[in-house]
Amino acid sequence: MNQPRGQWSSRLGFIIAAAGSAIGLGNLWKFPYITFENHGGAFVLVYLVCVLMVGLPIMIGELLLGRKSQLNAAGAFAHTIGPKWVHAGRLGVLTGLIILGYYTVIAGWSLYYVAKCLTWSFAGYTPGLSSPEAFGAFVSNGPLQFTLSMLFMGATVAVIMKGVGHGIEKLTRTLMPILIGILLLMLFNALRMTGAGEALRFIFIPNFAELEASSILEALGHAFFTLSLGMGAMITYGSYLRREDSVVYSALAVVALDTIIALLATVIMFCVIFSVPGLKESIGKSTVGMLFITLPEQFYTALPMGRVLAPLFYILVGFAALTSTISMLEVIVSWLIDERGMTRRNATLAGGASAVTISIFCAMSLGAVGGLSSFEIFPGKAGVLDTLDHLASNWLLPIGGFLLTIAVGWFMSREDTYGELIDQYTPNWFHYGMWRFFMRVVAPIAVGSIIGFVIFAGTDFS
Ligand code: PHE
Repeated sequence: MNQPRGQWSSRLGFIIAAAGSAIGLGNLWKFPYITFENHGGAFVLVYLVCVLMVGLPIMIGELLLGRKSQLNAAGAFAHTIGPKWVHAGRLGVLTGLIILGYYTVIAGWSLYYVAKCLTWSFAGYTPGLSSPEAFGAFVSNGPLQFTLSMLFMGATVAVIMKGVGHGIEKLTRTLMPILIGILLLMLFNALRMTGAGEALRFIFIPNFAELEASSILEALGHAFFTLSLGMGAMITYGSYLRREDSVVYSALAVVALDTIIALLATVIMFCVIFSVPGLKESIGKSTVGMLFITLPEQFYTALPMGRVLAPLFYILVGFAALTSTISMLEVIVSWLIDERGMTRRNATLAGGASAVTISIFCAMSLGAVGGLSSFEIFPGKAGVLDTLDHLASNWLLPIGGFLLTIAVGWFMSREDTYGELIDQYTPNWFHYGMWRFFMRVVAPIAVGSIIGFVIFAGTDFS
């Protein structure tokens, strides 16, 4: 039943596509607001440690498992590790489906803000127009939320139908550099704002007295989320990686790019928050809206050419999100193709339709339908969307990542992993023994003990 597998056309093509998966709403929307909620500095430091000690080794592990097996996430586990491991892969497919379901709702916001910014650019903007109140009214409009998320899902489905090389790679290759360019411009401008010093202190100077157990789990979960790890996205993308490209080099480039963009976005946003009077207090009531509340303030009140850049920026946020949603849908689709023998077209439609079912509930859970918006399973995370995000990022992804470390670290032979990682293209600073130690010992212990601690510490389950 096997159809010919797609391949990236070059190493750069792969890096750009994988970075496209990694860089998305996790960097631009989520990281800044969870940094705010978790009081900055210490949280950021824990997150960076998680990225380096857990994220990077697992990124290498996922890519190598994918390339070695040349299969989808579930198939890769089953054929390379052992038949029972198929469940680890399936858990990834399920996690991907959940994330895709709610992610498209947030991604839909970018479409609305493109339209909003175009209006502001032409009709004029007075400070405070992009207020938390206006944002609240927008998200509680259920039908609008659902329509926007549908548009976004439609775009994702359209790209995935075209397949790996043509759809995903081309699009990402063009758009990523523009996004980075605009962010740099905004950074330059943000650093000259009055609150810049305070913002940098908030983000980079750790105060461990403010770190809670739940923040550590959140930092770990976010490291998985932002690097697209723990659900098979990088296994799947790795399966399209050519033999002559270095897994190690690609992994490092993706991790580095992702981290830089997250920090860039956060610095920009906090410079605005700490500079505009009253914004810090009011943003506290609507942290999830930060990306959509603070940046228009900078564009329209402080940035030269802001009227042109604002709509362009939200277009790029949308594209960054799109290159992430396509990687989620690709996990599901490649599984349906490989394991269920479907055609790409049917697999894409089936995957998209399943995710839409989840999106409907998420779209209605931001104020539109009371019952869906207010229940709390995890303290402080109200409603379907927040609950699914917390469940997927803080529990399912780390569990998936933990299983991967055991599978690749303990069930794959040294020869197999060595053969995949070390070749003439491997950068010479790479130390195989050290990677293996991190994969077998450091990463599983770190992930296992954080999860265990949060479960057994009992009182603090959030
Ligand atoms: N890494 C993406 C982001 O930061 C989200 C993502 C998660 C993509 C899991 C694929 C898989 O937005």
